[in-house]
Amino acid sequence: MTVPTTFSFAKPGRKPTGTVVVLAGADLLLGSQARALGVTDLIIRAAATASFTGKAMATLDLLAPAGTDFDRLIVVGTGNPAGLSEYDWLRLGGAAMGALGRAKSVMVLAERPDGKRPAPGQVADFALGMRLRAYAYDKFKTGKKSAGAGASKAAITITCADPSGARKAWSAAEAIGEGVVLARDLVNEPANLLGPVEFARKASELKKLGVKVQILAEPELKKLDMAALLGVSQGSSRPPRVAVMQWQGGKAKDAPVTFIGKGVVFDTGGISIKPAANMENMKGDMGGAATVVGLMKALAGRKAKVNAVGIIGLVENMPDGAAQRPGDIVTAKSGKTIEIINTDAEGRLVLCDLLTYAEERFKPKLMVDLATLTGAILVALGNYYAGMFANDDGLAEALLTAGRETGEGVWRMPLDPEYDKMIDSKFADMKNVGGRYAGSVTAAQFLQRFVEKTPWAHLDVAGTAMDSRQTEINQSWGSGWGVRLLDRMVADRYET
Ligand code: BES
Ligand code: MN
Ligand code: ZN
Repeated sequence: MTVPTTFSFAKPGRKPTGTVVVLAGADLLLGSQARALGVTDLIIRAAATASFTGKAMATLDLLAPAGTDFDRLIVVGTGNPAGLSEYDWLRLGGAAMGALGRAKSVMVLAERPDGKRPAPGQVADFALGMRLRAYAYDKFKTGKKSAGAGASKAAITITCADPSGARKAWSAAEAIGEGVVLARDLVNEPANLLGPVEFARKASELKKLGVKVQILAEPELKKLDMAALLGVSQGSSRPPRVAVMQWQGGKAKDAPVTFIGKGVVFDTGGISIKPAANMENMKGDMGGAATVVGLMKALAGRKAKVNAVGIIGLVENMPDGAAQRPGDIVTAKSGKTIEIINTDAEGRLVLCDLLTYAEERFKPKLMVDLATLTGAILVALGNYYAGMFANDDGLAEALLTAGRETGEGVWRMPLDPEYDKMIDSKFADMKNVGGRYAGSVTAAQFLQRFVEKTPWAHLDVAGTAMDSRQTEINQSWGSGWGVRLLDRMVADRYET
């Protein structure tokens, strides 16, 4: 849902109106803008009753005293303001938005309680945190829209030392926010409304931003020999699609960075059908693809100086008379043969053909795939870190660093020939499952068999893309996880 919240940036000294947000450090330290409101005593007294101490992300919600120009005051704790990380600035904005609820006219005094100026990027991050917190997928709530999510139209003025710097930083941050919101919308959307064709149409909308989008339908996919991907799709009455998105923001001849997403619009498991409990969650089995589309939107929206390619495989995994069977053998695009042991291990079958396609067609600088690939990654890492597997230490390091910076953390997992043995098959080059143990690793080993020479990383986002951790900046089931991470990795390392 696009929440029509508008942000503007101004110099301090405006007449405070509506709801005012101020930051308070540990021991209720207040900056000069906040002190100028003349409510220091009120805050101290109220804080004592509410046991608010200025601890980071705590909030205090007060009615403005009579005789002031504004009507409500929200105090957000920063703890030690010198220790605030980039992710903390996002969280502060999220915490503020969480306290704001349905406020329509908001003024944020964006200053550090210790008197130091926040950098323009930190002010923009605060605004981005507000924007992401305000997101709510409530289009099917016919009655009251979800409260506390800032779901109504709000005009937010942020006063800060360097408004023009903040405005500039916000134009990039806003584009990133739009990418995250798009990814969340796609993950939250039910599968009856978002099949492969509809998803491809959503990807095509990026054309408006200057992204070249090509949609490959079944005849082309057959011509491209994507039999592993097509095998997954053959039990569904909805035909598959592959979307190829190209953003050319770098030098003409530069090899692109490439992102590949699993887009299983619904995963019943196929003939190896899943149990009924929680199967509805499998509408989110296209979370990897959603993040790739959101990332391309962010990169194009902020006109990133990079050549980037996004490729998503859109299929539905269904059981019917035409469905793939356990025991079937398919020849993947690479020429390697795969024995299907379990039709529920379908994500790797979609991705393997896309990896081959990406490497052959684009000769990319690197490939990162994102997939809600295994339940086992939830067992290993829960829903905080995503699992990361990489054949290249430099790429792994780039992802780890971006993860620390953005709060979208990845944890490196092993690849090893010993695990690779677990997917050797009696009848074909490999089988699509490796047995009971190390399920996330054998899935990654499977993918690695389709990467020839390109630096590659695989992110298993089954725990982070959906049914996700509720944070200051995310209250949504579909998290849009990975858009900020990958945008940052690109910005830090691959922009010219
Ligand atoms: N889409 C699922 C993985 C998944 C599980 C994502 C839970 C999100 C939450 C994937 O296609 C799958 O079914 N994987 C199987 C693999 C198994 C058959 C080897 C799994 O994890 O059980
Ligand atoms: Mn499955
Ligand atoms: Zn799946």
